[in-house]
Formats: sequence, C-alpha cells, structure tokens
Amino acid sequence: MANLSTRFFGLDLKSPIIAGSSSLTAKVDQIEKIAKAGAGAVVLKSLFEEEIHLQFEAELNSPNELAPDPEYFDYFDYVIKEESLKRYLQLITDAKKVADIPVVASVNCTTSTEWVQFARKIEEAGADALELNLFIVPSNENRSHTANEHFYFDTVQKVLQVVHIPVSVKISHYFSNLAKVVSELSQTGIAGITLFNRFYSPDIDIDAEDLVTSEILSSGNEYLLPLRWTGILSPKSACPLAGTTGVLTAETAIKFLLAGANAVQVASVIYEKGPGVIEKFNTAISQWMDQKGYQTIDEFKGKLSLKTKEIDAWERVQFMNYFGGFSY
Ligand SMILES: Cc1cc2nc3c(=O)[nH]c(=O)nc-3n(C[C@H](O)[C@H](O)[C@H](O)COP(=O)(O)O)c2cc1C
Repeated sequence: MANLSTRFFGLDLKSPIIAGSSSLTAKVDQIEKIAKAGAGAVVLKSLFEEEIHLQFEAELNSPNELAPDPEYFDYFDYVIKEESLKRYLQLITDAKKVADIPVVASVNCTTSTEWVQFARKIEEAGADALELNLFIVPSNENRSHTANEHFYFDTVQKVLQVVHIPVSVKISHYFSNLAKVVSELSQTGIAGITLFNRFYSPDIDIDAEDLVTSEILSSGNEYLLPLRWTGILSPKSACPLAGTTGVLTAETAIKFLLAGANAVQVASVIYEKGPGVIEKFNTAISQWMDQKGYQTIDEFKGKLSLKTKEIDAWERVQFMNYFGGFSY
C-alpha cells in the first residue's frame, strides 16, 4: 500500500485529503466521521468577524425596551464577541476529543487588529494550526491594490507575532499580481497557502429580473482555475500549497499533487457523498500510486508543475493557435 503521508499546515498529515472549512466542520459528530474516514486534517468552520458585527447590529436594532444606551455599546460588543469566541473555543476542545488528526481553526478577518487576540485564545484552546481565511473583494475603485495587499501582509505579520502554532492562509485569486503576492506571502513564515477560497456568488434570475444565490456547492470543471495556479505557483512558493475548489474526485486530487500541491481541501464532495468519500479518495490515490510505481507522494508531487513543463502549457490563455480550427 502506497504511503499517502504529506505535510501541510507545518504538520505531518497521514493523507493529502483535508476536510476544508464548512458548516459540516462546525459539528462534532461530522468531525469525528471525517477523522475516522482517514482525512489528513480537518479545518473547522471559520469564526467570522463580520458575523459578530452583524449580530451586534441586530441586537442594537432589536425593538427591545431594554435596548442598550449608547454608553453600553462597548459592553454589548464585548459580550457578543466573548460569547462567539467561547463557543468557538469549545468547538476546538470538543473536536480535539473526537478526532485523532490535526484540528485546524479558521478565522475570517475583515480588520487585522481583533484577530490577534482571537488567534492567541485559539492556540490556548489546543488547535494544532490556524488558517486565516483572508479576503478583500477588490471592488472599491478608490482603494489601491497596495492598500489591499497591505491588509494580507499586516494580518499575517500580526498573527505570527503572537502565536506559536503554524499559521497558513487561504486566499482568493483576486490580486493584480498573484504570483508576486503568493511568493512574498510564502516568505513571511506562514506554513502553507490554500488556493483558492470559493465565495458565495450572486446570479441573475431573468424571469424575476432579480439577483439570486448561485450554486452553493462546486461542480464541473471549477477545479481548473486553482489547478492552473497551483501548477504556476508551486515552484515560486517558499511554503507548501493546497488546492481547493472543485476537487470532487480522487483523480482531481491527483492532478493537484502532480501540479505541485502538497494537499487538497474538500468540502462540496463531503456534503454530496458524506465523510466516507474521503476513504474512497485515499484508496483510489493509493491504487493509482501502486499502478504507477510510486511509493510516496514526494516521488510525483510537482511532476507537472511550471518547473518541469514549458511556460506555454500553464500560462497560455488564448485559444487561437491550438483551437483555431475548432468546430462543432
Ligand atoms: C456551505 C459551505 C460553507 C463554507 N464555509 C467556509 C468557512 O466558514 N470558511 C472557509 O474558509 N471556507 C468555507 N467554505 C469554503 C470551503 O472550505 C471550500 O474552500 C470551498 O467550498 C471549495 O471547495 P469544494 O469545491 O470542495 O467545496 C464553505 C463552503 C461551503 C460549501
């Protein structure tokens, strides 16, 4: 049987299949099943700063005759934060009790100050690593790309200063120079970079002529975007990469490893098929390795990355030369 061990989050993992952060990983019974199915690690549901602010605003706006006087705002803000954090720390403690694999906490920052405190407490609660779920939607035309990028580096630097557990980041592809940002981020001391978070995306209903929610779960070929960037960025990154979005089959997981990822993070396929799918992925990867004569992941990891393939194969974006004669 092939050896599936790999490294990500600065930790030794027994499998490259990581259960990514989702509402499933906020439930202790699901976390236990994920661990039993052979996942390399589990990333807990993110603790969202925005959610805490929204809850605070909802309480302020509630038609309650005991609604707080403005001078109590700070107090209520403090209580809500403390309660959210307490619940999250309890999740870490409970997850550690049922899972014999690394338990990785996840925080979503919109400001870089608050989370330093949270990161410290998360470490104290026993999380094995911390993933910063970082993103800014670059939709503000008055904010420069350097200001946006500063947020990532500033947050990482502040968190790294206060915790000893490994810290990784999960980012989006919305950067004006993704390769430069990833290369520089990878040299800050972080333990890994996950490419890319999949966001809620609005769609349009043409009958109602209104915005609607698009598919929550990944489908089809959504993996092609993070796969391309894994292939391009893995040789340029000083820390390991994990691929996520659209890893719905073991074959796709193998593609990410060949492109240079150390691991993949999966969510949609666990929603669709249950945690047992992780065991099937492990078996299929192991069988493929046996067929190919690979005993360890390191023997084929990055075999098809930009380092070994010509630039054209990964960076080509125009169809014209290859598919000029394409017809249906
Ligand atoms: C219902 C749901 C909730 C999610 N919640 C989080 C979250 O709290 N934090 C996070 O970093 N990613 C979250 N994700 C994103 C997943 O971790 C993953 O990056 C994304 O779904 C792409 O992987 P997939 O194609 O395997 O689903 C969520 C995904 C889903 C479907």
